Amino acid sequence: MKKAIRIVLWIIGLVAVIIFGIVGYIAGRGVPSYETQKLPDYHVDVTPARIERGAKIAQLLCIQCHRGEGAQLTGKLIADAPKDFGQIYSANITQDKEAGIGTWTDGELAFFLRTGIQRDGSYNPLMPKFPNMADEDLKSVIAWLHSDRIEVQPSKEEAPKTEYNFLIKALTNTVMKPYPYPQKAITIPDSTDRVAFGRYIANGMVGCYACHSADFKALNDIEPEKSLGFYGGGNPMLNLEGKLVPSANITFDDETGIGKKYTEEQFIKVVKQGARPDGSVTRYPMVPHITLTDYEVGSIYQYLRTIPKIRNKVVDPETGVIAQK
Ligand code: HEC
Ligand code: HEC
Repeated sequence: MKKAIRIVLWIIGLVAVIIFGIVGYIAGRGVPSYETQKLPDYHVDVTPARIERGAKIAQLLCIQCHRGEGAQLTGKLIADAPKDFGQIYSANITQDKEAGIGTWTDGELAFFLRTGIQRDGSYNPLMPKFPNMADEDLKSVIAWLHSDRIEVQPSKEEAPKTEYNFLIKALTNTVMKPYPYPQKAITIPDSTDRVAFGRYIANGMVGCYACHSADFKALNDIEPEKSLGFYGGGNPMLNLEGKLVPSANITFDDETGIGKKYTEEQFIKVVKQGARPDGSVTRYPMVPHITLTDYEVGSIYQYLRTIPKIRNKVVDPETGVIAQK
């Protein structure tokens, strides 16, 4: 009997040593760094067409997270970041050479936006990556960052630096990893193929699936269709008051999705303006996607018709009330 107890104590002791070892290792190592690539041959010509396109994409993907107090993208507190991550600040991405990204090359920017690996090799776990954005669209974003638009003009103002907490360090040492830099060209599908074009706008450019699938933790950004509950909604996300708002099921399931609820025209209106057919408005974080064209949003509608329907009645986690009428 005594021997058995002794063995048990030994095992407990050993487990404790291993756990302390791992915790100590992660805390000491911090968020890991990776080999970065400078892509020296990658060059973006800044043309008016690209600036225009880049401004449209940035409005959808960058400005909300990076805009400071004024018009410029000086960084700010991300108030709706998951609470377990602590206080997350975005960065100054104006053209200032010290406070901003004025000295980043086109190649460094492209590599970072695709993979999440910053130019010093540090991994950025908190910002979305864009592995499926078309090459031309990525170039447009970079052209816009280098343009004379007000948002990116040099500013010395800086948001505080994010202190990574233990959870982020643990996740980045285990499951959160950079994405591979794409080895093949990524092109925008011909817009006459509305399903393929809509799929690109939804999955490759805007990333609607990221909010509209079941859970941020079960996304597959490389192959979005493999995300858990793809477009079936119910992903609980924080609004700016710290309350949970679930995303909507936007598959074409008749009862729980949008199969009977939206015509293409009504869908365009709710996505671009936030206004539903019954006059109600969508809650944050579903913001109006004003820079998308009617044709782009209509194509998303045509694409959503073709994906598997998911029966998922979305319930408001705060009140238990059915969220989608
Ligand atoms: C969900 C919020 C969010 C969105 C959306 C977002 N960013 Fe970020 N961005 C961040 C955070 C957070 C950081 C990291 C700050 C840190 O490491 O302290 C960051 C860092 C960066 C950096 C690195 C800056 C540096 O000096 O290290 C660049 C460049 C950048 N973002 C560009 C963009 C562009 C371009 C877009 C749109 C295509 C974008 N971001 C969209 C939150 C966001
Ligand atoms: C930042 C997360 C987020 C992104 C990105 C996002 N949505 Fe949403 N969406 C939501 C949330 C949350 C709701 C539910 C809002 C509510 O309950 O009022 C919603 C609601 C909707 C609705 C209304 C559904 C209904 O039943 O009334 C539609 C349609 C929709 N989104 C389509 C889209 C499309 C298309 C895109 C991409 C262009 C997109 N969303 C991008 C979070 C997001």
